Amino acid sequence: MPSLKDKVAVVTGSTSGIGRGIAGHFARLGAKVVITGRDEDRGAQAVEAIRHGGGEADFMRADLLDEDQCRRVIQFARERFGGLDILVNNAGDTSRGDIESITVELWDRIMALNLRAPFICLQEAIPLFKDRGGGSVVNIGSVNAYIGEPNLAAYSASKGGLMTLTRNAASDLNQYRIRVNQINVGWTLTEGEDRVKRQQEGKGPDWVEAATATRPFGRLLTPQDVAYAATYFASDESECITGSVMDLEQYPVGAPPKW
Ligand SMILES: NC(=O)c1ccc[n+]([C@@H]2O[C@H](COP(=O)([O-])OP(=O)(O)OC[C@H]3O[C@@H](n4cnc5c(N)ncnc54)[C@H](O)[C@@H]3O)[C@@H](O)[C@H]2O)c1
Repeated sequence: MPSLKDKVAVVTGSTSGIGRGIAGHFARLGAKVVITGRDEDRGAQAVEAIRHGGGEADFMRADLLDEDQCRRVIQFARERFGGLDILVNNAGDTSRGDIESITVELWDRIMALNLRAPFICLQEAIPLFKDRGGGSVVNIGSVNAYIGEPNLAAYSASKGGLMTLTRNAASDLNQYRIRVNQINVGWTLTEGEDRVKRQQEGKGPDWVEAATATRPFGRLLTPQDVAYAATYFASDESECITGSVMDLEQYPVGAPPKW
C-alpha cells in the first residue's frame, strides 16, 4: 500500500462523490487533506469523517467558477498545512445539453469548471510545489473525451481539453519535478450521477440496475475504485510518470454503441 504520509493534498469537489472518496482514501494513507466544495454542511461532514478515522483534514468553501476562489483554495493548503504536494482537480459539471439548444451560458459554465479551474488551480500551485522540490497533479477526466454521445458535446469537449492541458502542462513542468497526469473515469455511482440520471435524463430509480447490466464486472465503478487509481499518480510510486492518461474503462463496454 503506497504511503502519503506527511503529504498535503487539495482535492477539489471533495464534499461528495468521487472527490470525497479520494480525499478519504488519501487521509487514510496519511495525507493532510483540504476538502473543498460549495456546501458547508457536506464539507463539515467530510472533515468530521476523516478526523473520526484519525486523519487530518480541513474545509474551505469555494466556488471554482471564480478565479480568486480557485487561487484561495490553493493558498489555504499553505496556510493550514504549510505547503502542497498533491492537487486533484476533480470538481466537474456534467450538465447535459444537445448542440442545437445548449446555451452559451451553460457552455461557458462547463468550460469554466471543467477546464479553466484546473488550469488556475495548477498555476497557483506551481510555486508551492517548487518550494517542496516537486508535486503531483491528478486531473479527473472522463472516457467521454474519446467518443460522441448525444447531449454531451460541451462536457466531452471540456474533458478532451483537460487531457490536452494535462499533457502540455506536464511538458512545461518536468524541469521542476512537477508531474501532471489524468484519470479518465468510467461510469461511477455518485450523488452527482444519480442527480443527472433522474433530473436531467428523466430516468426512474431502477436506472442503476439497468446500467449495471451493461458493465463487464457486474457493477458500476465506485469512488473507491477511482481513489485507488488517484493514489498511484499522487504517490511517489509514480515519481517518474508524467503526461500520462489512465482510462478506467474502455468505451463502450459490454453494450453496442448508441449511434
Ligand atoms: N460519476 C461518473 O460517472 C463520472 C464519469 C466520468 C467522469 N466523472 C468526473 O468525476 C468528477 C466528479 O464527479 P462526481 O460524479 O463525483 O460528481 P458529484 O456531483 O457527486 O461531485 C461533484 C463535486 O464538485 C463540486 N462542485 C460542483 N460545482 C462546483 C463549483 N462551481 N465550485 C466548486 N465545487 C463544485 C460539488 O460540490 C461536488 O463536491 C467530475 O469531474 C466528473 O466529470 C464522473
